[in-house]
Amino acid sequence: MIPAEFSRALESFRCFLDDLHVNDANEIGETARQHLLRQFEQYHAEMAKALEAKASAYEAAKLQYRTTVNPILREGEIIRRNIDIPRGYYGDYQTMEMMYRNEFEGSTPRGKLLHKIVVDGRECGSVRKRKQHLQSRIIELVDKEQAQSVSLCSLAAGPAAELRGIPEATQQKIGRVVLIDQDKEALEYAFKNLPEHLQSVCQCVVASVADVVFRKVECTEHPQFNYVYSAGLFDYLDDPTAKALVRRVTSIANHST
Ligand SMILES: C[S@@+](CC[C@H](N)C(=O)[O-])C[C@H]1O[C@@H](n2cnc3c(N)ncnc32)[C@H](O)[C@@H]1O
Repeated sequence: MIPAEFSRALESFRCFLDDLHVNDANEIGETARQHLLRQFEQYHAEMAKALEAKASAYEAAKLQYRTTVNPILREGEIIRRNIDIPRGYYGDYQTMEMMYRNEFEGSTPRGKLLHKIVVDGRECGSVRKRKQHLQSRIIELVDKEQAQSVSLCSLAAGPAAELRGIPEATQQKIGRVVLIDQDKEALEYAFKNLPEHLQSVCQCVVASVADVVFRKVECTEHPQFNYVYSAGLFDYLDDPTAKALVRRVTSIANHST
């Protein structure tokens, strides 16, 4: 049985969302968005607290949450994608791109605001920082390589956004890029959006981590990359797979980072 405190907090959250009248999401500045985010967090903390001692009610409460507020929340583009999971897994390339763009996206002005509150939040912010860090490391490592032709391999490449915006001189030192991902559509998108030079040296490989571990991916059969990197992959993997992958990867890279 769902605790009454949960249902009350959920109903307050629904009223809060219902009352969120927005004409133009861009007009709601950062301070106001931060305030809304804190209110969001407060409602969710109340709901979580109500369920603390009632683990058996969790599934029913989740269903009640979905029926009550999802129709409103899905007006926000990133929330809709997280509800529908159109590519069958969370964190697909389109979701990543929404985080990187950090703009107002949604089917209504209210939805655009909800989307922006999410993508501007801490979690999405750390994904942006990770991409930035990765790009800086790639530039630093390629620039300092003596070899005139540096090879890179990205495992679970997704949209490969870190390879956009690399200075031209650094790009010219990159002689080979292999993008590996289980999602063919993600790789097509990644390739289409690469700078011209990187496109000319890029190979896209549709493969899973298991294919790499079990040595079914031809281009990962020899220790031939200067650098192999991966971002946002390991939280999908169980411990034995993660360990097997690290062992495999260290054998195909001259340096790994
Ligand atoms: C969170 S995204 C990260 C994408 C990109 N590295 C980035 O940081 O923007 C995770 C990617 O991992 C891929 N992926 C998840 N599990 C995988 C697996 N077992 N084998 C290959 N790719 C996988 C997904 O297709 C997705 O593109």
